[in-house]
Amino acid sequence: MKNSDNLEDFKLDLVRRPRRLRRTASLRAMVEEIQVRAEDFIAPLFVMEGTGEKEPVGSMPGIFRYNLKDLISECKELIGVGVRAVALFPYIDPSLKDAVGSEAKNPDGLILRTVKAIKDALPEMVVITDVALDPYTTHGHDGVLNAAGDYVVNDASVERLCSMALLQAKAGVDIVAPSDMMDGRIGAIRTVLDGEGFIDTAIMAYSAKFNSAYYGPFREAVGSSKAAGTTLLDKKTYQLNPSNRREALVDARLDEDEGADFLMVKPAGAYLDIIRDLRNDTALPLAAYQVSGEYAQIHAAAKMGWLDYEKSRDESLLAIKRAGADLILTYFAKEKAALLNG
Ligand code: PBG
Repeated sequence: MKNSDNLEDFKLDLVRRPRRLRRTASLRAMVEEIQVRAEDFIAPLFVMEGTGEKEPVGSMPGIFRYNLKDLISECKELIGVGVRAVALFPYIDPSLKDAVGSEAKNPDGLILRTVKAIKDALPEMVVITDVALDPYTTHGHDGVLNAAGDYVVNDASVERLCSMALLQAKAGVDIVAPSDMMDGRIGAIRTVLDGEGFIDTAIMAYSAKFNSAYYGPFREAVGSSKAAGTTLLDKKTYQLNPSNRREALVDARLDEDEGADFLMVKPAGAYLDIIRDLRNDTALPLAAYQVSGEYAQIHAAAKMGWLDYEKSRDESLLAIKRAGADLILTYFAKEKAALLNG
């Protein structure tokens, strides 16, 4: 290279210049590898009893607990912007909670009424229900405890989850989504559903659900933050250790073998390697859950003026899709879909 002030004098002898394809907007669009679409989104929604005003969820700006009527309006707006699937979570009155989550077996429970109401109003909406006891238990765990009260027992929990999934299927849900991380629950639920004739009710398995700090704001939303109001809830005897990459594959393969129709990774943003691992290991559709804490983090940094809100939101969604997710459960679903389809 010459010692010169003339820019034209600097010439590297390069065979490949990747910047050629980044020069203009049209070239960049031609070589863009993936796009996020409204059809990729599943919107998580929180429903509460009664007819009260929608209640904001602290640390999740724009996210509310809706009464059933307002939830239907929200679903209509979602369909209007091209979001075709919702994942429902209940806010259960504390007086209805007990140690074994009996309310989850109430045939007239809030979630079941919600499923029916959505399917009546909007038959084309894909409705997904959570199968786990945490919104219904006083201790906030996803299953039932042993006699000593210090361990979530597996098989008795699975039995309760099966009853829960069956009620949801009877209510007309399209997809049941066990988020409990008990062993053998996918196979057990499939057997019960098939035995009762619900051969077309699909199962989306929360296969690789990690014991994550990012669920904090959600636990406030469903009111399950504290175990029996004393210690902070810890689910490490059933949710995956954030250190473990191979173990996620073990769980995912079991779910596939047991009959899951979709696999899921959760959280998404801090587990992109797991999304890629599962993508490379299964031919099933793969979902990823961008959880409450991921949403809160972007909002908080933007509020401080430390991140550009739109750009970090969009980049977070793109990263999840690029890692290999087909579907994204995200609290950004409505606003992003409206921007894509508006
Ligand atoms: C529990 C459940 C959790 C979430 C969905 N289902 C939290 C937990 O495991 O405690 C988290 C979702 C979110 O953080 O957005 N069955």
